[in-house]
Amino acid sequence: ARTAVVIPAAGRGVRLGPGAPKALRELSGTPMLVHAVRATHRARAVSLVVVVGPPDGTAEVRNLLDEHGLQDVEVVPGGETRQDSVRLGLAALPAGISTVLVHDAARPLVPADTVDAVAAAVREGAPAVVPALPVTDTVKEVEPRAPDAPAQTPEPVTGTPDRSRLRAVQTPQGFARDVLAEAHARVAREGEGATDDAGMCERIGVEVVVVPGHEEAFKVTRPLDLVLAEAVLARRRV
Ligand code: CTP
Ligand code: MG
Repeated sequence: ARTAVVIPAAGRGVRLGPGAPKALRELSGTPMLVHAVRATHRARAVSLVVVVGPPDGTAEVRNLLDEHGLQDVEVVPGGETRQDSVRLGLAALPAGISTVLVHDAARPLVPADTVDAVAAAVREGAPAVVPALPVTDTVKEVEPRAPDAPAQTPEPVTGTPDRSRLRAVQTPQGFARDVLAEAHARVAREGEGATDDAGMCERIGVEVVVVPGHEEAFKVTRPLDLVLAEAVLARRRV
């Protein structure tokens, strides 16, 4: 009943602006990926970590992890989309792993307790578990402007979902290994996609549950998120 973590880290980080692939950018002097690997490695439930690196950058990722004393982490090449990268990471798992967590390299500060809580919920029988927080902004549904329209073009509001029923989901998301592998195989075969792994499971009819996430599991997406991440690290050091 061993638990593995797959860390998709093959994205470019376009929204962060020009520079190295996002996972290799530094937070307080240490690459984001190293923070993410350490954060999941520290969790008691985790016995194996597989990093999915940029297809043309696995050697660089390997060196980086070695330099930081993370020799026992496996590195495999990723794909065009996050979904492809996760599928490739799953394919690299050895026999004997029954629980899989999928954790974005872009969420480098997730607390170990959150990782353990997700793993525990899977081990207690939930096939698919997602950490999430209540949404703080009111969310509007709109009729999106045409892709070629100017950015200032107003968009008509078509609805306001009841905020008390909404959750913003994070990672690590946890799964019974067979369930996630089946979801990825089927959804890929049907040529479809989802924006998270739990969404893949929903598409094949698997029940997904939400457990409490953590503020510090936020995703580093835009430049301001780097400022927040470094502030969180500074606060941890005092
Ligand atoms: N990811 C991946 N393979 C891809 C695309 C994304 O492994 N082909 C990973 C990213 O490295 C990241 C996680 O999926 O750890 C979440 O994706 P996101 O935050 O969107 O990162 P990027 O795709 O790198 O950023 P952007 O969308 O701004 O380019
Ligand atoms: Mg992306």
